Amino acid sequence: MADEPRLVGAATATLDETTVETSLRPRSLAEYIGQSTVKQNLEILLTAARQRGEAADHILLFGPPGLGKTTLAHIVARELGVNIHLTSGPAIERAGDLAAILTNLEERDVLFIDEIHRLNHAVEEILYPAMEDFGIDVMIGKGPSARSLRLSLKPFTVVAATTRAGRISSPLRDRFGAVHRLEYYELGELATIVDRSARILGVQIEPEAVEILARRGRGTPRIVNRLLKRTRDHAEVRGDGRITADQARDAMAAMDIDSEGLDATDRRLLAAIVQKFASGPVGGAALAAVLGEEVETIEDVYEPYLLQIGFLDRTPQGRIATERARDHLRRLGYEIPLPRRGERLDVGLWDGMTVEGRNADAETGAE
Ligand code: ADE
Repeated sequence: MADEPRLVGAATATLDETTVETSLRPRSLAEYIGQSTVKQNLEILLTAARQRGEAADHILLFGPPGLGKTTLAHIVARELGVNIHLTSGPAIERAGDLAAILTNLEERDVLFIDEIHRLNHAVEEILYPAMEDFGIDVMIGKGPSARSLRLSLKPFTVVAATTRAGRISSPLRDRFGAVHRLEYYELGELATIVDRSARILGVQIEPEAVEILARRGRGTPRIVNRLLKRTRDHAEVRGDGRITADQARDAMAAMDIDSEGLDATDRRLLAAIVQKFASGPVGGAALAAVLGEEVETIEDVYEPYLLQIGFLDRTPQGRIATERARDHLRRLGYEIPLPRRGERLDVGLWDGMTVEGRNADAETGAE
C-alpha cells in the first residue's frame, strides 16, 4: 500500500497543520489512545473484512472537531492495507466530480469524505447507488435520445466524518454499516497522549507539566498536541528545552489559556451571554451577530466543549450560561449581572452567604 494519501478536490489543511498532525498521529488501532468502544467495534469490522478479503462496510464517524475522525480514517485504510483518498463535502461541487473520484478508486480502497453534511443534494444522489451497489448512473446524450448507463465501480469503503450528525439525511445515514460517535477524552487519556507526543517530539516533560497541559486540553487530542508544541517552543526559548511545570504554566498564560482550558474566544462567548444577554437564553443568530462569528462555527467549534463541562445549557429558547460559567468568569474578574431567568438552583446555594461581586438583590430573592 502507499503511505501517502491522495488528495482529491480542494486540500483543506495547510501544510504546517498537516505535517504537525501527521507526525503525532497514531498509525494503528493499537497505538490509538481512548475511544475504546469505537476501537473495539472497528477492530472487529476490519478484521472480518480482511478475513473475507472484502471491502469493509462504510463507516460514519461523528463528534466535535479534533477528536480523531481523520486519524481513524487513515488507520482504517492502513489496517486494511489499502490506499486512502481524501476529500470533503464542500470540495465536491458537482456530481461529475464525485463520479471522477469514484471511478478512480481501486478495489477495497478507502474514500474519506470529511464534513459529509456539506455535500450538495445532486452529489448525494450519486453517492447512494455508489455506496449501496457499487454503481453509478451516468446520462449519455441529451433530450429525447438521452439514456442512462450504469457504470460498475470496484467495491470500496466510505469513511465519512461530520461534526453534525443531525444534518445528515436519513437515506445517507442508512447507507453506513457502522456509525460511531467520538467522545471527549478523559484526563488520563489526554495525559497519555501528551506523554506519547512528547516522546515522538523528543522533548522531556515533567509529570506535573503533563497534567497542566492535559487539564487544559478541552478533552481534545488536537488541542493538547498544539499546547504541547507551543509549550516546547516556550521551554526552548525561555528555558533549557525541558518542559517543567513552571514552563507549562507560563506558556498557558502567554497563550491566554485559563485553568479550564478556555481561550479568549471561549471567554468572549461566555461573557457575551452573561453580560449582553443576562446569561440567556439567547439564540444562535443573536449571539453570532454580537461576536462577529458564523453560527456554524459557534455551534460546531466553541459550544460543544462548553456544553460538555456544564458551562452552557441548551434550551428550546436558546443557550444559557450556567452558574458554573458565571462563577468561572467572576473569579477571572468579569462583572456578572444578574441572570434574566430565575435560576432556582442558585437560591439555596447563595442563601445567607455574602459573596463578593454578587448583587445584593440576589440574596434577598429579588431575582
Ligand atoms: N494523537 C492524537 N490523537 C491520538 C490518539 N487518540 N491516540 C494517540 N495519539 C494521538
